[in-house]
Amino acid sequence: MSCRSQLSSWQSLQELANKMKNTHLKDLFSQDKSRFDTFSIQLPGLLFDYSKNLITANEMNALQSLAQQTELTAWRDKMFIGEKINFTENRAVLHVALRNRSCAPIFVEGKDVSQPIAAELSKMHAFVNKVRSGEWKGYTGRVITDVVSIGVGGSNLGPQMTTEALQNYADETLRIHYISNADGVQISKVLKQLNPASTLFVVSSKTFTTSETMANAKTAVAWLKSVANDDAAVAKHFVAVSTNLAKTAEFGISSDNVFTMWDWVGGRFSMWSAIGLPVALYLGFDAFIELLEGAFEVDEHFKDAPLTENVPVIMALLSIWNTTFLGAKAQAILPYDQTMHMLPAYLQQAEMESNGKSVTFSGEVVPYTTVPLLWGMTGINGQHAFYQYLHQGNTIVPADFIGSIKPVVEVNNHHEILMSNFFAQTEALMSGVTTEQVREELTAKGHSTQEIENLVNHKVHKGNRPTTSILLDKVDAKHLGKLIALYEHKIFCQGILLQICSFDQWGVELGKGLASKIQNELENDTITAEHDSSTNGLISYFKKKRV
Ligand code: F6P
Repeated sequence: MSCRSQLSSWQSLQELANKMKNTHLKDLFSQDKSRFDTFSIQLPGLLFDYSKNLITANEMNALQSLAQQTELTAWRDKMFIGEKINFTENRAVLHVALRNRSCAPIFVEGKDVSQPIAAELSKMHAFVNKVRSGEWKGYTGRVITDVVSIGVGGSNLGPQMTTEALQNYADETLRIHYISNADGVQISKVLKQLNPASTLFVVSSKTFTTSETMANAKTAVAWLKSVANDDAAVAKHFVAVSTNLAKTAEFGISSDNVFTMWDWVGGRFSMWSAIGLPVALYLGFDAFIELLEGAFEVDEHFKDAPLTENVPVIMALLSIWNTTFLGAKAQAILPYDQTMHMLPAYLQQAEMESNGKSVTFSGEVVPYTTVPLLWGMTGINGQHAFYQYLHQGNTIVPADFIGSIKPVVEVNNHHEILMSNFFAQTEALMSGVTTEQVREELTAKGHSTQEIENLVNHKVHKGNRPTTSILLDKVDAKHLGKLIALYEHKIFCQGILLQICSFDQWGVELGKGLASKIQNELENDTITAEHDSSTNGLISYFKKKRV
């Protein structure tokens, strides 16, 4: 498999990028009045506008050639038919099977996985109904009022982000709480508000070995037992979501209370599995199904739309154009919707844990930049925090703006205020303000020539900052499902285009292993290990002061 940089499309893109460095987006817009029509796509319920990127038909054609030369569609098809494309872990990549709303079977190693998926969904459905209806009782016979989800990374971010995004659709049946950090502050704050007799814990961990999740789960069990004084109470207050049934049994959770997932579901792509149980408990099972349906619609689009009209493919091509060819090192995620405030964190794991890597499929060092650093915050808040950097900083940060036509909560003209800022920011980042415009403005305001000279360079905005806009009809379960599936497939395409193995996370494992060794040292004075002088110094300073 030759390195991507040897492909003819790659070389054309490099040449185009060199030329594009002298082009301004504003000029592209004045030369071509139909840019928006050419470079935007409407899908049911959403608009994707990529016209404010530094591209013309030439760049898009070259990017499309890259997609063809990297056999993107063949790889996509391999994913959908359950081939083991996660070859560093020898696994299929089948989160799409979890939301397959058609009757078509999907096979892994000759076995149709749609049957076990349907069975697990039915089990979730029955359980959700039991808890929400009050049929499920705690150890004293009280109904459940609070659900606590314990999990981290992919076993937390998807459900919590979704819960936050859809909180306005929840009824009063259950309150929900999330615990992800090993920091005792979080669990003690949550438990303080709760009554053990009416609290249900969902312990979510694909491996059931993640130390922070296990520590939180053990603390929660101890908290329950300290009041219940009865080991049997655990069965009424703890359920688990995991692939590791041996470990869930060892932990003391009865197999009836374990919801399973499969090794072909990556943690960061698992919110469509029983990992989504907290969402289904909080919002009701129908809302969970709507989420799956929204994602399924995008799966169908990704499978069927020609590459030139395929939104996730174009999202990935643009990321590579901006990062690998034009040199951007970061990418901002800017939801103009308060309920989507966790989207940047969710996408950080999805994209950076997937593609924050630097060797090719065959393990050679890649001679190009792979994915950018993702970060972001909700608009308008971000405008008053870091947008100064976006407008006038000396590095370019392409940004995704995400908003909706209808607000979740209609309050006076708040949505118009919010969205006018969204549109204004993309316009300003694109067009900027020239020296002449600044001079004119200051002259009109009556500034002296000297004052103008002193100020002019400070007020110039170069513009030419690429942005992509996604407008959803509304932030509801279906549209959120669509949005997340778009980003998931974008990430898949980035991996193929860049020749990166997107589905492992060895980089995270390294720190995990070291932390467990150091934990032994921190907890046991007789254990000392050899580290570098800084790590040794930190550990011994901590231990001395901790006494
Ligand atoms: O962050 C590393 C990671 O392995 C993620 O990929 C995963 O989502 C998270 O830890 C949690 O893992 P588990 O679900 O096994 O507890």
